[in-house]
Amino acid sequence: MYPILFGSELGLIVLLIFLSWIAGSKASNILYKPSAEAVYRKARKQLNWAGWLTLFLVAILGVIGYMIVSLDFIFWEDRAFVHAPLLILNLLAIFAFSIPKLIQLRKLTTPKDNVPKELTTEIYAIAAHPKMVIPFQATALSAVTIFYYGMSSPVPFKWDDVLPLVMLAIVTVALWYRQSFRYQAVIKPGAVVRNRPWIRFSGSLTMFLVVTAALALIFYTSMERSKLPGQLSMMSGTPDYGGGIELAHDHGQHAGHAQPASAPAKTVSVTDLTGPKSGIPDRKFTLTAEKKTVQLASGKSVDAWTFNGQIPGPELRMNEGELIEVTLINKDVEAGATIHWHGLDVPNAEDGVAGVTQDSVMPGGTHTYRFIAGQVGTFWYHSHQVSEEAVQKGLFGPLIVEPKSGVDPKQTDITVITHIWNGAFANGSNDGIDKRTVQPGTPVKLRLINTDDWVREKFQLIGTPFKVTAIDGTSLTGPGKLENTDLVLTTGGRYDVEFTMPDHPVYLSINGTSKLGVFLSPDGNGEIPKVTPGTSTFNPSEYGSIAPTPFNASSKFDREFTMVLDNRLGFYNGQFDQVYTINGELFPNTPMFMVRENELIKTTIINRSMVDHPMHLHGHHMLVLSHNGKPVQGTWWSDTLDVVQGDVYEVAFKADNPGMWMDHCHNLQHAGVGMSMHLMYEGVTSTFSVGEDTNNHPE
Ligand code: C2O
Ligand code: CU
Repeated sequence: MYPILFGSELGLIVLLIFLSWIAGSKASNILYKPSAEAVYRKARKQLNWAGWLTLFLVAILGVIGYMIVSLDFIFWEDRAFVHAPLLILNLLAIFAFSIPKLIQLRKLTTPKDNVPKELTTEIYAIAAHPKMVIPFQATALSAVTIFYYGMSSPVPFKWDDVLPLVMLAIVTVALWYRQSFRYQAVIKPGAVVRNRPWIRFSGSLTMFLVVTAALALIFYTSMERSKLPGQLSMMSGTPDYGGGIELAHDHGQHAGHAQPASAPAKTVSVTDLTGPKSGIPDRKFTLTAEKKTVQLASGKSVDAWTFNGQIPGPELRMNEGELIEVTLINKDVEAGATIHWHGLDVPNAEDGVAGVTQDSVMPGGTHTYRFIAGQVGTFWYHSHQVSEEAVQKGLFGPLIVEPKSGVDPKQTDITVITHIWNGAFANGSNDGIDKRTVQPGTPVKLRLINTDDWVREKFQLIGTPFKVTAIDGTSLTGPGKLENTDLVLTTGGRYDVEFTMPDHPVYLSINGTSKLGVFLSPDGNGEIPKVTPGTSTFNPSEYGSIAPTPFNASSKFDREFTMVLDNRLGFYNGQFDQVYTINGELFPNTPMFMVRENELIKTTIINRSMVDHPMHLHGHHMLVLSHNGKPVQGTWWSDTLDVVQGDVYEVAFKADNPGMWMDHCHNLQHAGVGMSMHLMYEGVTSTFSVGEDTNNHPE
């Protein structure tokens, strides 16, 4: 509902800008009509304009009213306290001032017995009156202001959010002043009204230039001010204690903060929070980052950044409980590389985030990661150095952890990892159909991984009922049978899908087409079916049953955080952009959620922006407690939660993995313009830094 209401309000506002702009200029022109008869006609037309504006103002107020009755407060507070008052003020002004003046004007200019009236000072006085003209013009200016606020919500409110209102007031007063000047000129005894459009035009032009110059100045200074320092400790951020006691921590750039209420904890450096340092690894992998031109199945070539010369990188398969050692070698990727184990909750020093848990590995450099594969399921790995570009160009791959108990040897296990290579949608490097022969009766597991940036990938399984058996590398309990149900997978997310192979073909369509997907058939033959939209879309909050969990919605939480996702037209690092905020801020001003080891944490995530945000917390899995006020049906653990427009999620996690953890939008483009923050454990210190003067650019 929220996106529709949001969009309707904004759309109506845009129309209102145009209509009121025309109405405003027509109103100020009545004064210059050559005859009373013309004034008579124009006054009627202007009354029509007043009618149209009223209609739009009321319609927008209606949309806002509907938001108020149907949505949570946070989704409409700005509309109720900023948009609506401005609209109402203009509506009142039109009714109290403009309409009575126009009616008066009509009366004075009504021809009597078919004899047109003469133009008199009295007529001029009304036609020039600011009370008649300004409400129309003020509506236009207010509509522009509301449009700005619609694009950049003042939620939570900050003092510079007042600036557009101040501008609106100044310009309205200036227009009023100009109109009063005209009014004074026509009521002077013996005044002659001459239509001098050029003079009026140059007046308007001057005003326009002054306003533009003022805006340009504001623009320039904001842009300069938004430049990030050349070197920035990732420990900077605004500490948020989530309603709990203040904790001791190294303040990084924010020295001088109040003393913590609790006793200072013992400190530990991120670099000491490693996996097992000794012990012979059960499995060793080497991943070499190198640039290479690689061919997709269709022959299309991609200038890629690869691991081991292939895109995606090799699938790393391991068993639960094994000690894993991965050596990263950077051969020639000048931008640097790291490896982050997306969804695997490894010790902090192994998390692979440049500038947070390690330095970026530059060409010629290496880095070794050691960790125990503690979870079972479907994961992926990717570089977390210039991650937006690195992932897009290919520095990623699937990572599968098989259970200790082993897997059914009969099972067919297929990894489907979607990516867009230079605009071509693909499954791995296959931008066509992956055909397989599978005997009827075989258990099949499809591991869906979405690595596309910005795309909620749609999968449709045609030809068999199926179950979603795991989300984000965590098994579901009591998954029900699904059929004709589209699976929409968020960026960075994973679904495991299972079924038993029937005696006829099964097709997994990717992206709604019969040209990209996985085709399974008993004999290797068969027709790829037509793809039509399913009758429903898989909803993880209404699926499966409850399994025992160490905590749940009725647990007592030590800290409760709120994360409000929004967008803003704004500046980030010296550029004007559509930016995506967390609690109204961009990194490094985003909040830093402060926790103490072993605490139980609850976070409410609210998306009041115009787009969806897959929020990814490193190092922890979040238990989803509720979605839009309703408790979730099953036990759903997530590491990459698809928070779409208007969504409210309550999630909880145990702070059981000390360190400094990224928490960001996995639309990596959003993270790159500041939609990133971190979770900070008490007493954890880091010497790493990010910024232009370093090699570390985690986003
Ligand atoms: Cu998959 Cu911080 O990333
Ligand atoms: Cu986002």
